[in-house]
This record gives sequence, structure tokens and C-alpha cells, in this order.
Amino acid sequence: MIIGILNSGGDCPGINSVIEGYVAAAYSRGWRVIGFHDGFEGLLPVVGGRRYEVLNLLKTHKIRSLGGTILGTTNTGNFNVQVNKVGRHSLDPQIMAKAKKTITALGLEALAVIGGGGSAKTAKLLAEEGLPVISIPKTINNDLCGASDYTFGFQSAVEVVASSIDRIRTTANAHKRIMVIEVMGDRSGWIALHSGIAASADVVLIPEINFDVKHVVDGIMQRHNAGQREIIVVVAEGCLLNGELVTVFNKDNGEERLGGIGNRLCHLLEQETGIETRYCVLGHTQRGGSPCAFDRVLGLRFGVEAVKLIERKEFGTSVVLKGGKVGTTSIDEASEPRLVNPENHLVQTARELGIIFGDREPEDVRRMHATK
Ligand code: F6P
Repeated sequence: MIIGILNSGGDCPGINSVIEGYVAAAYSRGWRVIGFHDGFEGLLPVVGGRRYEVLNLLKTHKIRSLGGTILGTTNTGNFNVQVNKVGRHSLDPQIMAKAKKTITALGLEALAVIGGGGSAKTAKLLAEEGLPVISIPKTINNDLCGASDYTFGFQSAVEVVASSIDRIRTTANAHKRIMVIEVMGDRSGWIALHSGIAASADVVLIPEINFDVKHVVDGIMQRHNAGQREIIVVVAEGCLLNGELVTVFNKDNGEERLGGIGNRLCHLLEQETGIETRYCVLGHTQRGGSPCAFDRVLGLRFGVEAVKLIERKEFGTSVVLKGGKVGTTSIDEASEPRLVNPENHLVQTARELGIIFGDREPEDVRRMHATK
């Protein structure tokens, strides 16, 4: 049997772990694997060449610790899902036909798509066309899989952010500064929440909890006046500032992207508190580097499970981690956005630890610094 694999959308640590698990499980069944380059684009014919390669055990042995993806990826191109006036999703019929032709010509009996929410929608459309497709959720934002615990890439991103905050804290302490750290997450606050708790942030701002700058300022001033030298503020890129998303607009290609709230908040806080304030945008460092051990293991588990799905011919489904177990669910459920529930245990724990979310008057700081 010959099966295919591709990854689409933003890269993240752990993709190569999935690929290694997938190839190992396929070869243990006597199957062969073809890997497509640069996302779904690899399914399109190119004159005088091809955008795929045979993946064997030698090529994929121990790539589980490699960041990025040996296949390359893209989050632009010909496979963006179109939505009509009644919300129906579709792909350009010519593109769909070319993809089908490639899959048929190569004799593929299955195609695994490693991707985020957008790529999962494309995978679902291919499956609805009768193609043997399965999906593997991927994103550092952990904002997928309504039915799952984690996506691989997330823990690696949290490690990068938490260790970056630890480093930023020493310079903030030296200068008695407020440091605003902008992190990724798209419209979710999972990275900000986990890394802020892990690295003792004073303030954690997430899109799921609207904040009032006044409450943030009051909390900062309480701690500053109580003698705290450095103040750490972690803000997720998708937060609303005074009710608006903060974005950057590329005049050349008309593209608008999330980003810039760290800078805006830095100036606001400095203005309101009178405390020297700087900001740091961690950007793609959160997507780069080698996967942490947790993500390597999860990626390998997802890759092996994907082959078992194919063996059971459960096409049109997705691999997920649910209740600590690797299982499967529909592509729809797996790509269901999953945002932070403000009432969840982790947010409650953060509040007990004195973390300021900016949605209410700050706790009296005397409680924080009570000494017997
Ligand atoms: O969706 C993952 C993500 O990392 C977002 O958090 C971030 O805003 C975006 O991708 C960046 O995309 P790109 O790599 O295209 O700049």
C-alpha cells in the first residue's frame, strides 16, 4: 500500500515527530510513504519536476527532535477554502481536480494532512470528494480540538515563552521596569495563560477575558508601591485593547495580521504609571526550535495512530488527544476552536496566585506581601 502525508499552515515543533511516527508505522506494515512538499501545493503538478518525495525509514529516523518540517509548508496558495454567502465551503474545482489526479496517479490509498483549523477545513473538503483523507491537528496555539487536551507544538511554545520571561525578568528587576511581553495564540490565550503562570507574571491578558487598562494600572501601582522592583505583563496577540484588535497592515499585499498590542500597551502603561516600561514581542521564536519531549512523544503517537486510522479505513476523521488518550473524532470536532473558559480551573488557580487579569479591581496587595 502507498500512503501520503503533508503538512499545511504555520509550522510548529513536533511536525517531524508526526512524520517519523507515520513512516515507522507504515513501514512496519510493509507500506510505502510519499511526502508532499509545501503543504497542499505539493499535490499540484509542476512542469519538469515534482513536489513530493518517497519517505523511508532512513530519511525519517530520529527527525522527532527536529523543529520545523522536512517537507516544508505554506499558509498561502491555491487551497484556501472559499466560503459562499450561505457559509458553504468549497475549493476551486480545477484545483480539486488536479489534487485528485495526483493522488490517483500515484496510487495513494490514503493521505494524512497535518494542519490547523484552516487546513482541516481543506482536508474535510477533500474527504467529502471521496478522497481517503485523515487529519492530524497541529498548532502552537492549542486552540483546536474541542474534544482534546493538547495539540503538539503548544508545550514547546510555552517552554520558550516561560524561559524568555525568566530572562526578561532579570533586566526588568535591574532597572525597576515594567516589561510587556507579547505572545502568540491567535484568538486564544492558552500560551499566555500557561507561560504567565509558569513564569510568575504579575499580569496575564488573554482575549477570552476583557480587561480594563485602569484595573491593570491599579494592580501594578499597588505592587510597585509595595516595593516590587519588576512588573511582568504577558499579553496575547489576539486581545482587544479598548475594544479593538491591534493589527499590522501590509500596504504592499493588503494583508492584515495580528500584532502590535505589546507596543501599544507598553506606552499606555508607562504613561499611566510613570514607571519606565519596555516591551518584547516573542514572535516566531515560539514556533521555532526543537520540540520539547512532551511534543515529540505526542507527535509520534499521533503519527502512529494516523496509520491505524488508515488501516481501519476511517477516512474523514481526525486524530486527537482526549483525556490523556490518543483517539479519533470527526474533522469538524477536531478543528472546533477551543478558547480558554474564564471559569476554568487554571484561571481560578491563577487568580488564587494573585495574577491580575484586568477584569476587576485588583486584590489588596497587602494580602500578597503579608509577613507574620
Ligand atoms: O496560528 C499560529 C500562529 O503562530 C499565530 O499565533 C500567529 O499570529 C500566526 O501563526 C503567524 O503566522 P505567520 O507565520 O504566517 O506569520
